Amino acid sequence: MTFSRIAGVGSCLPPRVVTNDELARQLDTSDAWIRERTGIAQRHIADESQSASDLALDASRGALDAAGLAAQDVDLIIVATSTPDFIFPSTACLLQAKLGVKNCPAFDVQAVCSGFVYGLSIADQFIRSGQAKRALVVGAEVFSRIMDWNDRGTCVLFGDGAGAVVLVAGDTPGIHASVLRADGSHAGMLSVPGNVSGGKILGSPYLQMHGQQVFKFAVKVLDEVGREVLAAAGASVADVDWLIPHQANVRILEATARRLGIPSEKVVVTVDRHGNTSAASVPLALDVAVRDGRIRPGHRLLLEGVGGGFTWAAVYLTM
Ligand code: ACO
Repeated sequence: MTFSRIAGVGSCLPPRVVTNDELARQLDTSDAWIRERTGIAQRHIADESQSASDLALDASRGALDAAGLAAQDVDLIIVATSTPDFIFPSTACLLQAKLGVKNCPAFDVQAVCSGFVYGLSIADQFIRSGQAKRALVVGAEVFSRIMDWNDRGTCVLFGDGAGAVVLVAGDTPGIHASVLRADGSHAGMLSVPGNVSGGKILGSPYLQMHGQQVFKFAVKVLDEVGREVLAAAGASVADVDWLIPHQANVRILEATARRLGIPSEKVVVTVDRHGNTSAASVPLALDVAVRDGRIRPGHRLLLEGVGGGFTWAAVYLTM
């Protein structure tokens, strides 16, 4: 039987750091409010010249180096993003060209903040079915582009970045199980409800959110989907070495861990330094914890996403 496992992880953060105090100089907010309600102290913001595919490229190179593979070895590219470079071609195709690769399938996944976990599960299916042997799965976002920087209720929450993994075929898992869920009846809870038509923006180009509804929904489904994926893998909460939930807000992470019964020392937290980087948040957090030596080969990880759609998803894997 063929399984998939993570062979390398990489990430990229734009160099410019924006602190809460810097935001408070332009907006009616404060470092104390943002820290207390969200746990966020700073975020990285891309400059105008950097697109999602640029961040994806740096993260991919890091993951390929860590896996000891060349870009040409990859036979599937999936990019999870809600802030693509263009309407089309896909950011995955642009990344493929920047990597100098040709012919392998390349496509984007649009599941907002669950996108990377969706992409990881899709790549796992490709590898298990024999359609791919070495997949590059990337979460890359420039959410700063869809912020209304005058809306203190949303713009303080998000940041830019990318994270990537190389998933390779092997005889042992790797990925034990994945669960993907969606409920489009909650589309209005978190959205960018605009599009381009006849050369004009119709609707709004900015992120809109019902914060308290999102909070409650996220905690509920992150608990449910975590339990579902562990049951599907025949594992229990006690087996989990590290929980990496989507990094939306420290209070969501704490509430999720509490409901799942996972101690806070086993939760990887990066939202304090990165803000919410949507589809990039899980692979960014994974890369931070791999590179600082917390996550080691053999450790069992529960990765969880939740985001607009609404979508939510979990993967349980052994590194
Ligand atoms: N600075 C100062 N005051 C603020 C700010 C700010 N940045 N933002 C909102 N406020 C004010 C509001 O205007 C309101 O003022 P009022 O009482 O005078 O009307 C007050 O603070 C309380 O606002 P609430 O929205 O009720 O604040 P709440 O405690 O719910 O916190 C927050 C807001 C942090 C957004 C919270 O609802 C939350 O964390 N929700 C989850 C949303 C989230 O994480 N989204 C990420 C995207 S979703 C995802 O990734 C799955």
